Amino acid sequence: MKIEPFEMERMQSTWENVVEINLSESGVEPIPLRELLGDAGRIEAFLDYPAAYSQSNGTPELRATIASMYGDAAPDHVLVTNGSSEANFLAAWHLVEKGDEVVLMLPNYMQLWGLARGFGATVKPLRLREGAGWQFDPEDLKAAVSKRTKAIVVCNPDNPTGSIMGAEQRKAVLDAAEDADAWILSDEVYLGAEREGPRTETLWGTHDKTLVVNGLSKAYGLPGLRIGWLVGPPRTIAALWSHHDYTTIGPTYFSDRLAQIALEPRRREAILARTRAILGRNYALVAKWIDAHGSLFSYVPPQAGAIVYLRYALRINSTELVTRLLKEKSVLVVPGDHFGMDGYLRIGTGPEEDYLLRGLDRIDALLREIKAGRGKA
Ligand SMILES: Cc1ncc(COP(=O)(O)O)c(C=O)c1O
Repeated sequence: MKIEPFEMERMQSTWENVVEINLSESGVEPIPLRELLGDAGRIEAFLDYPAAYSQSNGTPELRATIASMYGDAAPDHVLVTNGSSEANFLAAWHLVEKGDEVVLMLPNYMQLWGLARGFGATVKPLRLREGAGWQFDPEDLKAAVSKRTKAIVVCNPDNPTGSIMGAEQRKAVLDAAEDADAWILSDEVYLGAEREGPRTETLWGTHDKTLVVNGLSKAYGLPGLRIGWLVGPPRTIAALWSHHDYTTIGPTYFSDRLAQIALEPRRREAILARTRAILGRNYALVAKWIDAHGSLFSYVPPQAGAIVYLRYALRINSTELVTRLLKEKSVLVVPGDHFGMDGYLRIGTGPEEDYLLRGLDRIDALLREIKAGRGKA
């Protein structure tokens, strides 16, 4: 298998822990372990956990808790993975064969774009339209799907646009998958990270051939646990578990137990409320900052995720702009180029306020220099 570079992850992996200000993340400020564990008794008990192998598909307790979040799903509908990125990998590895067609929502976290192509599929883009609030046109979906379509891949809520699929679009996905007897692969890692409005509805539960991906990295503010999951038909989940034997075997013992704590119903709601509070507070700061730039930026306010996706009116390529920010101001954001869309920037809005504001100030400083024609541009 020949892989194309996963540009955003490559850049983040290289720089996120080197720069002074990292605004390339799409999740909220992570929760400290002490806060997650809560009381002293639990902290003490955690210190006695063995660094053992855990149940490789996830403990029955964790799978039951996850299943309870998906209607009538049972533990054998669930496979626990190392991050939702591993869940996406396993799904693509299992589903996609050379010569398949895959319809994929764009712009998107580009992992499934790269994987589907790497496994030999022809990827047909389903473009979100900025003028329609980053929704796709259901007619475009109809035109892209055929009897050759193996899977319809969506990201809902979407990264990088922060848009949530509308009711009409949701119906169109379900109908198209049914008509073509195709799989739906729905990456829902931002579900629960809505800035306002109701919680996003999962695509689980209607079409038989559905695989849902989710995890603790974004809406739950626990990326370091590396816990993700897949929900799907039991036979497919069993097959994906065998694939898992060839990747990481299983999640760590510690993370499985910590995930059980995070997903206890009351704790889960408290964590999601924390996320929503951070998103609301920080978005207000960022929106004010954007507005202060007049016509330099245009954007559709994100509905979910700790991200804003901005179009900028400057004659500079997005990778060049981001490279200058990195080198000259030690700030990391994501260039639109990484989503195949020059002229855009994705800025993370999840960090602690002062840090975020310092980052925005540094972006300002560079923008002023560029406008004044100074520096290397
Ligand atoms: C849509 C989407 N899916 C999956 C991932 C991977 O997340 P993780 O492996 O940390 O769960 C990301 C990370 O940014 C993402 O944006």
